[in-house]
Amino acid sequence: MKMESPFKADIMKGKVALLTGGGSGIGFEISLQLGKHGASIAIMGRRKSVLDSAVSALHSLGIPAIGLEGDVRKRDDAVKVIESTVKYFGRLDILVNAAAGNFLVPAEDLSPNGFRTVIDIDSVGTFTMCHEALKYLKKGGPGKDSSSGGTIINISATLHYTATWYQIHVSAAKAAVDSITRSLALEWGTDYDIRVNGIAPGPIGDTAGVSKLAPDEILNKERQHMPLFKLGEKWDIAMAAIYLASDAGKYVNGTTMAVDGGLWLSKPRHLPKEAVKQASRAVEKRSRDAPVGIPKSKL
Ligand code: COA
Repeated sequence: MKMESPFKADIMKGKVALLTGGGSGIGFEISLQLGKHGASIAIMGRRKSVLDSAVSALHSLGIPAIGLEGDVRKRDDAVKVIESTVKYFGRLDILVNAAAGNFLVPAEDLSPNGFRTVIDIDSVGTFTMCHEALKYLKKGGPGKDSSSGGTIINISATLHYTATWYQIHVSAAKAAVDSITRSLALEWGTDYDIRVNGIAPGPIGDTAGVSKLAPDEILNKERQHMPLFKLGEKWDIAMAAIYLASDAGKYVNGTTMAVDGGLWLSKPRHLPKEAVKQASRAVEKRSRDAPVGIPKSKL
């Protein structure tokens, strides 16, 4: 379903956003929507072909955009990409950390190097990007006055709120990302007026994540106890990003917003609703009929 944005078309006007993993999937939809709402977009990614097609799609809509090759695991790449963004657009206001690695694997079959690879991309990569972007995002940085800083959005997940089968590496990595979000919100919110928040998407249709991690037959079974009984859309995540990145979210700092229709709360229903009504009526009746007070002999 194509939805109109509820935000004003110029809500991000004059802002410059850098997105890691912004060339495909959820990252690209955030690039697109930030651009449609007036921001200039820099996309960082490992694959030139993905960057080229994302940038030409943005250009075709009149959105100023550049693609910059780099791997968030390499500090030199992070520095180079951030500097190129500021050199090209003159400032940096929004950093979105959307680059992530993922695959399904039982813990017993995952090598320590496989575990480390995902931690390196998701957790260390997120910290590296934040760390290297700080001097441009902080209040008084290029294009900013002495009282207002930029903002950071870290794309997380809900996997680690409980535990998720075959996702030990990603769960650990995203738990660290949420912790980074809170610590930076505290330190950089206080010292530099930078708001740092996260978004934890649920299952979003039409993404590599869902087709790779949750095949149709599993999703169809799960739908029976999904609170909103439907998959999300990339648009839902992008609207959350606009809320957090714009002044609409100016008092929101240090939170990771779950955008999953309430799915992480879901449990299979253990009793049909009618059975609960019957059972609770029976309990009420039993307690009405029961004698009041405890006989002295039982005390
Ligand atoms: N199952 C088990 N282990 C795996 C694996 C899989 N599917 N994929 C990678 N690994 C392990 C490798 O075996 C290796 O460990 P080892 O050296 O002990 O054998 C380690 O992870 C690194 O693998 P490698 O292929 O060298 O890493 P890479 O840097 O080229 O890429 C990913 C790893 C995770 C980044 C890659 O799978 C990827 O690009 N995924 C796409 C990102 C994605 O899915 N994004 C959507 C997010 S929802």
